[in-house]
Amino acid sequence: MSENRILKSIRGTRDLLPGETEAWDVVEGVVREVMAIYQYREIRTPLFEETQLFARGIGEHTDIVSKEMYTFEDQGGRSLTLRPEGTAPVVRAYLEHKLGAQGTLDKFYYMGPMFRQEAPQKGRTRQFHQFGAEIIGTDAPEADAEIILLFLAVIDALGLDSWKLHIGSLGCRECRPAYREELVAFLKGVEDLLCEDCRGRIDTNPMRILDCKREGCRLATAKAPGRINFLDPECSRHFEAVKTLLEERSVPFTVDPRMVRGLDYYERTTFEVVNPDLGAQDAICGGGRYDGLAEMLGSVERVPGVGFAAGLERIMLALEAAGVELEFEPLCEVALVHAGEEARRRMFTLCDVLRRAGVACTMDLTERSVKAQMREANRREALIALITGEKDLQENNITVKNLVDGVEEKIPVEKIVPVILERLEAMDEAAIDEEPEDPSAGDDGAGPQQGEAA
Ligand code: HAM
Repeated sequence: MSENRILKSIRGTRDLLPGETEAWDVVEGVVREVMAIYQYREIRTPLFEETQLFARGIGEHTDIVSKEMYTFEDQGGRSLTLRPEGTAPVVRAYLEHKLGAQGTLDKFYYMGPMFRQEAPQKGRTRQFHQFGAEIIGTDAPEADAEIILLFLAVIDALGLDSWKLHIGSLGCRECRPAYREELVAFLKGVEDLLCEDCRGRIDTNPMRILDCKREGCRLATAKAPGRINFLDPECSRHFEAVKTLLEERSVPFTVDPRMVRGLDYYERTTFEVVNPDLGAQDAICGGGRYDGLAEMLGSVERVPGVGFAAGLERIMLALEAAGVELEFEPLCEVALVHAGEEARRRMFTLCDVLRRAGVACTMDLTERSVKAQMREANRREALIALITGEKDLQENNITVKNLVDGVEEKIPVEKIVPVILERLEAMDEAAIDEEPEDPSAGDDGAGPQQGEAA
């Protein structure tokens, strides 16, 4: 291999370039705003953890742990793993820092990269980004409903109104064995029709077989018993309560009697939100209740929890498919344009003074022509151009050109900063006046009804 080959990003990872990062910033800002309204606090856990955390939390026999983790040994011979998800780390941090004892620290959100070595395709990458939220310390059905409402509030605030919510229940540890027995007996009856992978899963992870995408397996398991029919009375009541709370907020949902999630820590409620515009990788959000996870991570006490995580790449794709236009702050307010050595020096100082006054400014640092500098100002969609030519220098003026209406005026150098601040404020107010009226103003709070009920 050539020493000098041009290095590229790793398959399944992607550079987010300027142009895209601004859109991501807007979306992340909306997430933060909604999280603040719902009173969730941000938690940032490390990007790598002890491998054990995920092996125990997510489960040894899941695809994530058995095939998809980026695991490596550090110099001390410890096995470490790049986090494939955020829930196990949050629960680890909750236990490690005894956050439960602090009373108010029970609702968390996070945002950041996760890593899974899956086959890359549209909407599926190896480094992807999630935002997620967790409520820890309660098994109240209101927590399950709140977590779902929270995610729907985020996508509503983003303007994404085509989604379908699927919910299910996996019951608890007590009612699981009866179901498992029934399912394994059913699967043994159709074993010959299953793919090799699924045959191997009958004893290790039989529920996963219900999620196999191969046509043969899907046909063979079409009549498999659903988990939902084996809930004990407590789990059944819990599930009914979650459904009622969603109905009271007019949230449309479909019950999926055999929903399978790719992580073993779930008990009781599970859910997924899909976006119909996304093709094969259509899940924009997944989540559920994990009442046994803390104990799997070594807690002597039972610490119930429920949460969701949403894929940012998929949300960006869904917003694009829906034609949602994100509102950006202007990137460039003022472009400083100069002709000649002395004008450039003067503008260099003024540029920094304006920036210190909070104005987003750009100026050419080379010796391009005034025409080229003006073209650049327009390309950046600057609101105002400040132009200094020979004559302006002699008269101690700067030409201020409003690039929106084309009006030009001469302003003495010493007045330029307050004048620019004033002009920008006026342009900002004019833009607000021109904004179309918010169609949701006067919302009766009836709830998130835009989702299409399946
Ligand atoms: P998950 O269903 O594995 O759940 O992932 C949540 C979301 O992350 C998916 O619905 C999808 O939008 C996105 N996602 C997952 N893998 C990829 C990928 N390879 N490329 C792009 N996007 C992806 C969890 O991670 C759980 N921790 C959710 C949770 C929180 N459960 C309880 N609390």
